[in-house]
Amino acid sequence: MRIALSTGGGDAPGLNAVIRAAVLGATGRGWEVLGIKRGYAGLLGEDEIVPLTPESVRGIGHLGGTILRTTNRLNPFAYPKRQPDGSTVQLDRSDELMERARQLGIDALIAIGGDGSLAIAQRLYEKGMKVVGVPKTIDNDVSGTLQTFGFDTAVSTAIDAIDKLHTTAESHDRVLVMEVMGRHAGFIALHSGLAATADVILIPEIPYDLAKVCEKIETRDRAGRHFSVVVVAEGALPVGGTYSTLGASLPGEAERVGGIADRLAREIQARTGKECRSLVLGHLQRGGSPTGYDRLLAMRFGGAAVRAVAAGRWGEMVALQPPGIVTLPIKSVLDEPRRVSLDDDIVVTARANGISFGD
Ligand code: F6P
Repeated sequence: MRIALSTGGGDAPGLNAVIRAAVLGATGRGWEVLGIKRGYAGLLGEDEIVPLTPESVRGIGHLGGTILRTTNRLNPFAYPKRQPDGSTVQLDRSDELMERARQLGIDALIAIGGDGSLAIAQRLYEKGMKVVGVPKTIDNDVSGTLQTFGFDTAVSTAIDAIDKLHTTAESHDRVLVMEVMGRHAGFIALHSGLAATADVILIPEIPYDLAKVCEKIETRDRAGRHFSVVVVAEGALPVGGTYSTLGASLPGEAERVGGIADRLAREIQARTGKECRSLVLGHLQRGGSPTGYDRLLAMRFGGAAVRAVAAGRWGEMVALQPPGIVTLPIKSVLDEPRRVSLDDDIVVTARANGISFGD
């Protein structure tokens, strides 16, 4: 048996731990493992295919990033090709990819990625590729699994930052507004905001009213607490409004979600007269060593993916459904991304602890 591994989409701490566990699990069964570099670029002649052996995955379990590298733009079904006039067209190169996989004798693919990469994995499966998926994202927005690896590390990084903001906010009687990642899901903001006792948490699932946000800050001010810390998910939006965007990173691409912290800080300052500062925690949330929880989850996913290949569970992905790891059809998780539910006990506890959601 010869299997291939690929990592796609934004990186998440724990990817290397998945790769390590999968390579050791597979080679332990006598299988050969190939690593496809940069998403599927390696299978399209635009990057390398490398053999993965116990030796090549030695000492990587605790490292952030991915030794296979990754991309969130080289979709084989809509592969960007630059034209001589500078414009970009998208080509369906999936047949070429399937043919290359056949030539390389790849019997099965373990595709490690978030919703976009899992959707590609599903389409490859529909074209006849024997695929097993491994969900990955710091946003925790893949349904079917209680948690994705990378999320716990991102939350820990955000907690550390909020703790630091508290002391400087208090020293200066300021309002500090910190933006965290998550796209259209508020898990990172919610979990870090409660754990680090923010005063206001704004998430996409609960549209906010600026007047209510300012009311919370002014109530604290009147009670002698002249500073406030606001944690805002990048996809948060006001009631009746929409989320903030930053424009596309490259011409022809979708707009990036973000910019809400700066906007909010200006609005809060204008309304309350309090001095506000904003920051975007950004890609720090994606970097660094995975926490113990993420390493363990990633290794469990890597091991379970190899067992799923051995069992022929094609078109399925591994998922955390305590107490164990299960597999379920990739297709079943693609339509409904995971979002914070309003009766989540973390939301309820945060409210009971006096945290405002601006609603
Ligand atoms: O999906 C993971 C994520 O980190 C989001 O939280 C964020 O909006 C996005 O990726 C940023 O992606 P990029 O790598 O393009 O900056």
